[in-house]
Amino acid sequence: MPDPRLAELSRRLPDLRLLTAPGDLEHYGRDWTRRWTPAPLAIALPASVEEVQVIVRWANEQQVAIVPSGGRTGLSGGAVAANGELVLSLERMDRVLDFNAVDRTLTVQPGIILQTVHEAARSHGLIYPVDFAARGSCSIGGNIATNAGGIRVIRYGNTREWIAALKVVTGNGELLELNRGLIKNSSGYDFRQLMIGSEGTLGIVVEATLKLTDPPPPSQVMLLALPDMDALMQVFELFRERLQLQAFEFFTDHALAHVLAHGAQRAIDGDYPYYVVTEFDAVDEPARDAALAAFEHALEQGWVSDGVIAQSEAQAAALWRLREGITESLASRRPYKNDVSVRISAVPAFLHDMQALLAHEYPQIEVIWFGHIGDGNLHINVLRPDDLAEEAFIAQCEHVTKLLASTLQRHGGSISAEHGIGLVKRAYLESTRGAEEIALMQGVRKVFDPNGVLNPGKLFVGS
Ligand code: MLT
Ligand code: ZN
Repeated sequence: MPDPRLAELSRRLPDLRLLTAPGDLEHYGRDWTRRWTPAPLAIALPASVEEVQVIVRWANEQQVAIVPSGGRTGLSGGAVAANGELVLSLERMDRVLDFNAVDRTLTVQPGIILQTVHEAARSHGLIYPVDFAARGSCSIGGNIATNAGGIRVIRYGNTREWIAALKVVTGNGELLELNRGLIKNSSGYDFRQLMIGSEGTLGIVVEATLKLTDPPPPSQVMLLALPDMDALMQVFELFRERLQLQAFEFFTDHALAHVLAHGAQRAIDGDYPYYVVTEFDAVDEPARDAALAAFEHALEQGWVSDGVIAQSEAQAAALWRLREGITESLASRRPYKNDVSVRISAVPAFLHDMQALLAHEYPQIEVIWFGHIGDGNLHINVLRPDDLAEEAFIAQCEHVTKLLASTLQRHGGSISAEHGIGLVKRAYLESTRGAEEIALMQGVRKVFDPNGVLNPGKLFVGS
C-alpha cells in the first residue's frame, strides 16, 4: 500500500521519478558524515524547475519536509534525511544551459558536478576557480548552499564571489530570479547572496550563472617540511610577500602517515611535524628564482627544514595528493570533524590556545590537523580509538567542541569555516552569531519558507 502522500504527488506529477527502495533511501538519505541512520520517506528526482515547484507546493500541503540534495559530499549533515523527509535530488538537472563569451559566464543546472563545470569552462579557454578535493562528486547546487571554499580561496575567494545570478524556488514554491547576471545592481537587498550559504533552508537553487575568469599563469608547486608550529605563519608571511600565491595548505605528520598508508608517495625523507603544500605563479626565470630565494631565506631562518619543488606535472600532482588525499585516507575511520576559522592575523595566538586545549582534552586520542592555513581555516579530525564506543566518543568530541567554540569566540573566529552548520554544528551556532542575529536569521527563514518545509532541523536547533 503506497503512502497516500506519495500517491498524491504521483497523481500531480505522473512523470516524476520517485524512488522508495531501501537501497535508494539509504544512498540518498545520507552524506559523508555517516553519523545518522538514513530514513527518508522517498527520493524525488525532478527533471525541471516546474517539477521542483510542484513538489514544494505539495510538501506545504502535505506537511512533508524536503531535504534538497546534490552530491551529498557534505561534512556537516546538511543533506541528511533521517526523519521521514522527501529527498529532492537535483542530480537529473545537471546540464550546462548557456555559455556567454561576452559576459564570461556559464549558466548551469544545480546538479552539475563541479569537475564538469571546470571542464566546460576550460573548453572555452576560461576557468571556474573554486576547487577542492571532492570536485569529482560534489554538485554546484551544494557548493552554493554551503558557500564552499577549498584550496584556491587565497587567490579567488569563496563560491560567493563567483555567482552572477541564481534562480531559486522558495519554501512557498515561488520562482525567484536573482541578480540576472548583472555586475552592477544597486537596487535593494541582494537575495542572491542571502541564498548562498543558506544550506537549503531558504530556497532550492534550480539554476546558477557562474562567473568565469582567465586561467592563472604557469605555476610551481612546492612541498615544505617545517620544524614547529610557529614557523607556519612565518613562512606564510614570507611567501605571501614575495610570491603570487595560488594556494598555501598545511598538514601534520599524522595526516601524512595516513595518506602514505593510503598509497601516496613520500616526497621528503625524514620526519617533520608540519608540512606545507604551496602553489604560486612562476611565469618566467626571475619568478622561479624569487621562489628559490624565498625558500632559501626560510631555510636560513630555521623556519623550513627541507623542501622539494615539483619538476613536472606528475610530480606536482603527487605533491598535491599528499594534501588532497587526507580526507579520503581517513574516511573509513569516520572522524569527528571540526572546521574552524579565525582572521589570518589571529592564527598564531589561536593555534597556541587550540593546541593546548586539544592536548589536554584528547590525551589518548589521535587528532589530525590540516587545512587552508593561508585563509585562517583549520580542519581538525578526531579519530575514535577502537576501545571507545561511538556514543561516548561523540559525547567527548561534543564536549571539546563546546570548549573550542569558546576559544574561537575569544579569538573572533567561526565554528564553521566552509563545511556549513547542518546538523553537526547547530548547537554551536551562537558561538559565532549573536542571539539577536540568530533571531533575525530565523525571521528571514519564516519569510522565505513560512511553513518550514525546507531542510528543517538544519542550521538551527529545533526548526
Ligand atoms: C578539505 O579541505 O580537504 C575538505 O574541507 C575536506 C575535509 O575537511 O575533510
Ligand atoms: Zn577544506
